[in-house]
Amino acid sequence: MNALFDRIQPEPFRIKTVTPIKILSREERETIIKSVHYNVFKIKAEDIFIDLLTDSGTTAMSDNQWAGMMKGDESYASASSWFRLEETLKDIFGYKYILPAHQGRGAENIVFTTLIKKGQTVPNNMHFSPDRVTASGGIMANLIIEEGKNIQSEHPFKGNLNIEKLEALIKEKGASNISFVMITVTCNNAGGQPVSMENIKAVREIADKYKLLLILDAARIAENAQFIKMREPGYENRSIKEIIREICSYSDGCVASSKKDGMVNIGGFVGINDERLYEIMQSYCLMWEGYMTYGGMAGRDLEALAIGYQEGIDEHYLEYRIGQSQYLAKKLQEENVPIALPAGGHGVWIDSKKFCPHIIPEAYPGIAVTTALYTEGGIRGCELGNLAFSKRNEETGDIIQLPEVDLVRLALPRRVYSSRHLDYVAAVAGEVYKNRKKLEGFKVKKYATIKYRTLFLGQMEPVKKVASHTYA
Ligand code: F0G
Repeated sequence: MNALFDRIQPEPFRIKTVTPIKILSREERETIIKSVHYNVFKIKAEDIFIDLLTDSGTTAMSDNQWAGMMKGDESYASASSWFRLEETLKDIFGYKYILPAHQGRGAENIVFTTLIKKGQTVPNNMHFSPDRVTASGGIMANLIIEEGKNIQSEHPFKGNLNIEKLEALIKEKGASNISFVMITVTCNNAGGQPVSMENIKAVREIADKYKLLLILDAARIAENAQFIKMREPGYENRSIKEIIREICSYSDGCVASSKKDGMVNIGGFVGINDERLYEIMQSYCLMWEGYMTYGGMAGRDLEALAIGYQEGIDEHYLEYRIGQSQYLAKKLQEENVPIALPAGGHGVWIDSKKFCPHIIPEAYPGIAVTTALYTEGGIRGCELGNLAFSKRNEETGDIIQLPEVDLVRLALPRRVYSSRHLDYVAAVAGEVYKNRKKLEGFKVKKYATIKYRTLFLGQMEPVKKVASHTYA
C-alpha cells in the first residue's frame, strides 16, 4: 500500500466484538496447572490469558461471515450454501470435484480409506498425524529435506520434500507399494515451514514418472502461497489465488482442514480431479461425514467457510498474518529466547533443548517450558517434541527413540491477538528464560491408553531425577 504500511503492518481490520480475558494470580495458576497434572490441554480456556495452543478453529470471524451465518441454509440435501461453497472452492483451488468434511481428519479418512491398501507406504514431507495413515493400514514416510530438521537453517523453503529420497523410496518399495505421494503445505510439524513451487513441480515429475497420485495436505496453503510470493523469484507479482491455483494444478487432489486458512471454527474438504475416485469418496463421505452437500457441517458453517476462504487469500491479510509470526520471533529474539528460524507461517517454535540444557531430554524440557509459560504469564503453548513424538515401548511407555527436534509451539490464532499481546508473550518467555535454571524436569505419571496420545490425555509430574541423571 505504502512504505509505512509495509513496515508497520497494522492489523487490516477493526475490532467489533471482544472477549474479556480473566487475569488470574500466579498462585491461582500454580494451583490450576498442578490440578491438571501439567497437561495444558486440560486447563479451562477461561483460565488462560493468551492461548497459543493452536491456530486451528480459533479464528475470529468477520462481520461478513457472521452475516453469512444468518443466511446459511440448513437444508439436509443440496442447500444453497453448499453450492456457494462448492463454487468458491472450485474457483480458488481448481479441482473438478469437492466433498465437504466436518474437519481435516474427516477429509483424510475419506481419502486414506479410498487410496491406501494395507502395507502401502505414503511419503510426505512430514505427516501431520502419522497415526491416521497407520490406522488406514499404511506406512508413513517423512522425507523432508535436511535443512527442515535443522532449527537454525535459514533455508527459505524448509518444508521442501527431498526429491532424491522420494525417488529412492519408490524404487526400493516399488511403485505399486506406494499409495500416493503427499505434500503438506505449509509443513506444520516442521515449524510451519513453506514448500517452494519448484519443489512441488519436481515432486509432480517424480509422481508422473512412476504414475502415482499427488495429494496435498492443504490446511495452510494460503500461507504457503504468501511465502512463495515473498521468497520465490518470479512470483512477486502473482496474486495469491494464482499461486494457489498453480500449486494445486500440480496435484491430483487435496485434503484440507478449513479450520486454518479457511478462517472458520469448523470445517474441511476434499478436492479431487478423478471422477471415479470422486464417486468412491462420495460413498465414504456419506457413510462418515454426512450427505455430500454438507459433510458434517451445518448450513451456516458452509456459508461462513465460503466467505472465509475469500478472506483467507486476501493479500493484505496474509502480509499481516505472516508478519505477525515474524514480529513475535523478533521480539523473542530480543529476549534471547532460543527459537527455530526463520519463523513459520502460523507461529513460532521455541527450541526446548537450548532453552533448558540442564534438563535431560527424557525429562521433557518442553513440558518445563509450557508449565513455566503458564505459571509466569498465563500463556498456553503446546509441546511438540519429546513428549508428543518420541517412539515408545508400547508396554512400558519408555522412550525408544527421541524425535530429531524438541520444540514448543506458540501458534497464533487468526485475527485474535494484537501486537501488544505478542509483546507480552515475548516478555513472559524472556522472564522464564532468564530464570531457566530454576526449571525442573518432568516424568509421565499416567500414560494414555494409546501411548502417543499422552500429550493430549496423559498426566505428568515434576521430578528431580530420571534414571541415573540428576539435572535440576
Ligand atoms: N493437516 C495439518 C497440516 C494440520 O495441521 C491438521 C491439524 C490437520 C491436518 C487435521 O485437521 O484438526 O481439522 O482434523 N492441526 C491442528 C494443529 C490440530 O493444532 O496444528 P483437523
